[in-house]
Amino acid sequence: VSSTSPRARVAILISGRGSNMVSLLDAMAAGEVPAEPALVLSNTGDAPGLALAESRGVPTGVVDHKAYPDKQSFEIEIHARLLSAKAQLVCLAGFMRVLSPWLVGKWAGRMLNVHPSLLPSFPGLDTHARALAAGVKLHGCTVHHVSEKVDDGPIVGQAAVPVLPGDDEDALAARVLAAEHTLYPACLKAHIEGRADWAGAGAQLFNPAPD
Ligand code: GAR
Repeated sequence: VSSTSPRARVAILISGRGSNMVSLLDAMAAGEVPAEPALVLSNTGDAPGLALAESRGVPTGVVDHKAYPDKQSFEIEIHARLLSAKAQLVCLAGFMRVLSPWLVGKWAGRMLNVHPSLLPSFPGLDTHARALAAGVKLHGCTVHHVSEKVDDGPIVGQAAVPVLPGDDEDALAARVLAAEHTLYPACLKAHIEGRADWAGAGAQLFNPAPD
């Protein structure tokens, strides 16, 4: 998407709750991000985020991975839905399927993900429990371009939060999630405006503004 396009068409892929999806949809609706939602797709029919998208008037779809014999046919259907929605960018927002190099390659430089840690620390699952176990004093979240390696790829932005005495997994997860909700729209905006170098040369550090 060139920076001269008035509004980029963004598809969002979810698997569950959809709170990051809501933060992106609301930022687009408020004009804070120069983009419009093209489609919300879930790989599970019972994702609570689907109703949140529908209530905002956003087209939704379900491509259930269990209904396909293999990953390739699942991804061919996802790609077809993205194309027919005329999506220009794809945001993974709590999408819990690992995508193959084929689909990643189709959207190279046009697919972002949010991950609940300061990458390259703690890729994968259970990031908050692992951060607590490691005794880190700073934790946070990362928005990055999706590459062939899981939770890898050029970093667009990061937000750090403190790990506080007495934190349990839920308390830490909530603090990180609040930061994700600020970070992801800011990074999407930076990307659309050409301020996020997808070759990875200039990672940008975003911290949510203090209240
Ligand atoms: C978010 O914390 C997101 O960073 C994480 O799942 C949660 C989804 O919440 N994603 C991953 O772990 C991807 N590997 P949400 O559905 O409310 O946005």
